[in-house]
Amino acid sequence: MKKAIIIGATSGIGREVALLLIERGWQIGVAGRREEALLRLQTIAPERVFPAVIDITRVEAAEQLEALINKVGGMDLYFHSSGIGSQNAELKPDIELNTARTNVEGFIRMVATAFNFFKRQGGGHIAVISSIAGTKGIGVAPAYSATKRFQNTYIDALAQLSRLQKLNIRFTDIRPGFVATDLLGDRNYPMLMKTAPVAKDIVQSLQKKRRIRIIDGRYRLLVFFWRLIPRWLWERLPVKN
Ligand SMILES: NC(=O)c1ccc[n+]([C@@H]2O[C@H](COP(=O)([O-])OP(=O)(O)OC[C@H]3O[C@@H](n4cnc5c(N)ncnc54)[C@H](OP(=O)(O)O)[C@@H]3O)[C@@H](O)[C@H]2O)c1
Repeated sequence: MKKAIIIGATSGIGREVALLLIERGWQIGVAGRREEALLRLQTIAPERVFPAVIDITRVEAAEQLEALINKVGGMDLYFHSSGIGSQNAELKPDIELNTARTNVEGFIRMVATAFNFFKRQGGGHIAVISSIAGTKGIGVAPAYSATKRFQNTYIDALAQLSRLQKLNIRFTDIRPGFVATDLLGDRNYPMLMKTAPVAKDIVQSLQKKRRIRIIDGRYRLLVFFWRLIPRWLWERLPVKN
């Protein structure tokens, strides 16, 4: 039986991926701050779903991840979905700094712990949900877009480190476009996707051990052209969403 740990399984994309893995017979450890949501997941397959309340911004989260791996009885896949993000054109310091705390500090803490576990074990698969938002700095969401770019680069670095140290660790960096989850709130977004097809694409990408996966095809095209926009033009574009 395959074993996975999903951090950020209480809602949105992480929860949907958890449901798919449960359906496919995986044994999973699920974490997040909202205990009720974790316990609801556990009721689906009590013998195969292990909940743990973990706040990735806290120092003890690394030890809590190790404890959860032990509870599950091992880990083949580490799946990181935890993240926060909001528009913050006013640059409110608490929003900017909390975003960095979760998407950078918490991300490093958990992904590095998973890397070291796989290093000791002799291999494994690390998958993270970053975003297409890291493609270029977005004026109305500075911390969000910058932290997502950070995540892309951090995974690039670990992928090189893994080869350098001759470790058998695989990486998948999942970069979705807009998905209808709590993270977006009630705002209207173009090309909004539902969580179910996004999670299905993610699970397929994990099976194929894709290194980077932009979801979906429309966003792959968008990102292709987005990357071609020169800086002088990008900085003048009135991007609001
Ligand atoms: N929705 C989109 O359009 C979109 C697009 C591209 C990328 N993404 C990325 O997808 C990931 C999942 O987001 P989502 O859209 O599914 O939104 P979501 O429903 O708000 O899910 C966010 C998850 O992150 C967890 N989380 C937040 N802060 C945490 C903390 N301090 N410690 C532990 N867990 C924490 C939440 O759990 P608790 O609140 O229970 O802690 C929740 O399970 C994020 O990284 C997001 O940036 C989303």
